[in-house]
Amino acid sequence: MAQFSPTFLDELISRTDLAAIIARHVELKPSGANLVGLCPFHHEKTPSFSVSVDKQMYYCFGCGKGGNAFRFLMEHDGYPFPEAVEFLAQKAGMPIPASYVKNPKEEARKKQGLDLLTKVAGVFARCLQSDEGKKASLYFTQRKLPATIIQRYQLGYAPAGYGFMKRCFGDEPKILQQLESIGVLVSNERGFADRFRERVMFPIRDKQGHVVGFGGRILGDGEPKYLNSPETDFYHKSNLLYGYSEHREFVRKHKMLVVVEGYMDVLAMAAYDLPYAVAPLGTAITEPQLQNILRLHEAPIFCFDGDRAGRQAAWRSIERMLPLLKTEHSPKFLYLPDGEDPDTLLQKEGKEAFEKRLNDDAKPMLETWLTGLKNIAGDGAEGRARMAKKADQMLLNMSDNYLRQAWQSEIEKISGVALQQQKRPQFTASARHQISPKLQQRLIVSPMKHDLFMAALLQKPKYFRSLPEDAFNFFIDTNPAYPIYTRAFSLAGVEETTELDIAAQLMREFPDNHNIARWVNLPLVEDDEFQMLLLDMHITYLDGLRGRSEGLTVIIRINEELKALRNQQHKLNNSLKNKKTL
Ligand code: CTP
Ligand code: MN
Repeated sequence: MAQFSPTFLDELISRTDLAAIIARHVELKPSGANLVGLCPFHHEKTPSFSVSVDKQMYYCFGCGKGGNAFRFLMEHDGYPFPEAVEFLAQKAGMPIPASYVKNPKEEARKKQGLDLLTKVAGVFARCLQSDEGKKASLYFTQRKLPATIIQRYQLGYAPAGYGFMKRCFGDEPKILQQLESIGVLVSNERGFADRFRERVMFPIRDKQGHVVGFGGRILGDGEPKYLNSPETDFYHKSNLLYGYSEHREFVRKHKMLVVVEGYMDVLAMAAYDLPYAVAPLGTAITEPQLQNILRLHEAPIFCFDGDRAGRQAAWRSIERMLPLLKTEHSPKFLYLPDGEDPDTLLQKEGKEAFEKRLNDDAKPMLETWLTGLKNIAGDGAEGRARMAKKADQMLLNMSDNYLRQAWQSEIEKISGVALQQQKRPQFTASARHQISPKLQQRLIVSPMKHDLFMAALLQKPKYFRSLPEDAFNFFIDTNPAYPIYTRAFSLAGVEETTELDIAAQLMREFPDNHNIARWVNLPLVEDDEFQMLLLDMHITYLDGLRGRSEGLTVIIRINEELKALRNQQHKLNNSLKNKKTL
C-alpha cells in the first residue's frame, strides 16, 4: 500500500475541524485559547480534556491521551489509519490522491461484503416478523424480550431448511460465493447451504456499527445451543464485543459498564433499561477485548456465574488483564449465585435487586485476586508459600511498576512471605546514552523549564526566529524532547512553513509522542514569560559549556556573554515587577 503524501495529510488536517469531530462525543466549552470538556478516554468529573483549535490537536491532562484528528478517529472510534484519512477526506470534500494506490478491487469487495451483511441482517429481521417467524417471536416473548429491544438490536430469525439465502438473494454463483465469504452459506459437494437454520439471530457489529457477523441460538434445547459466524474478513471473534457499538455512548455518558457472558444477558439488561453491558462472543475473554473494555470505561464490572466454571473464567480474565492494568483502572468482579446469569436474575428479582448486586457485591480486582490465590494455594505454611510463589509469577506480567509494588505489598502482608520479585529491566531513554554522572550533574537543568520552552515554541513558532544561534544545543540528547526539538528547529528554518505546519508535521512524524499535543494545549506562554525562559535556558547552557571548556580565551568570551545575558535578565525582571505594581 502506498503512503499518503505529507502534503496531502497536512492539507487534510488544515481543512478538518477537529472540534467538530470531537464535539460528536464530548461537550466542549471555550476556555482561554482552547476548548475544554470531559475526557472521552477516561472517567472524570472535572474537565481536563483540551482541544487547541489553533493547532488542531487535543490533549487530556488527566490521562495523557493526545493527538490530531487522525489519532482521535483511530483511538476513539477504532478506525484504521487509511480509513480515518478517507473519512476526513470525504468530510473535507478532498479527493483521495491518485498516488495513493490502494487496491480498489479489494476495497470494493470489502464494501460489497459489508453491504451484504447489512442486507442479510435485514432479511433475518423481516423473517422474524413474518408468519414463518411465529415460533421465534414466541420464543422471544417467553424470554421476556420486548419488541422495542428486538427492533433496536435488529434481532431476527433464520428459518428451517437449507435454501433461505437463495430464496432471498437468488442463486447466481457470484452472489452465492459472496454469501459464503461473509459466513452465512457453507459449501459442500452438493452446492451451497444455509449455515444458520431454525435459529434466532443476533447481528454482531464492529466498533463502527457495521454488521460483521451473527450469533444464532437454537429455539429451546439442542446442540449446539449457539452457532456463530466463522472467522471471515469481517468477523474476528477475539476482537469483537457484543453490544459495544450499541452501548458505547451510553457507557461514556453514564459511567457504567458491565461485562457479561452471553448475548441474552446483554439484551435482558437492555430490556430492563440497563443498556450498558457487553459480552465476548462465546470464547474466553481475550486481551484485545479487555483492552477495548478498559479503554471504554476504567471501572468495568465483570459478572460471572458463581460456580466452578465461572470462577475459572474470572481467574483467566484477571491473568489476561494484569499486563493492561494501570493505576487509573479499577475493574470489579461480581459472582452471581450458582447457576444464575444476569438474564435469569433480572427475570427473578427485577431491576433494583440486580442493580443493588452491582453496587454492593462487586469486589475490587485485587480482592478477587487475593481470594483466588488463597483458594488455589490451600492452607498452612506451605499454602502461604505457594500463594506467594504464584503471586510472584503473576506479578511479573504487570507492566505498571507502582501498581505492581502496591499489589506485592498486599500479598506479602497476607502470606507473610517476602516476594523475590525478579527485577524487570527498566527501559528508559537515558539508558541508551550513558554519560558520566559528573557531566550529567553539570548538564542538569529543570525539566519544567524545557517543557515550557517547547510549549512556547510550538504554540508560537515565530519564536524560533528570535532564538540565538547556539539554541540548537539547549536540549541535551538525553532529554526526551530532544528529537522533537531538533526536528522543530530545522522545520522552523524552512521559509514557507506556516505556524500550523510545524506542530502538525511533528505530530505526523512522531505519532506516538503525546507531548506534542500536550504542549500546544498548555495555557498560552506569554511573550514576557518566553523572554525570561529564553534567557534562563541560554544562561544555563552557557554555564554548562563554561564548565566543559578549556582555554582562557574561550572562557573569557563565555563569561562576557553570560554577563550580558544576566544583565538583560535583571532588566527584564525589573520591568516585569514594575508592570505588576502598576
Ligand atoms: N456460547 C456459544 N456456543 C455455545 C454455548 C454458548 O457460543 N454452544 C456463547 C454464547 O455467546 C452465549 C454465551 O456463550 O451467549 C454464554 O453461554 P451460556 O451461558 O450457555 O448461554 P446463555 O447466554 O445463558 O444463553 P441462554 O440464556 O440463551 O441459555
Ligand atoms: Mn442465560
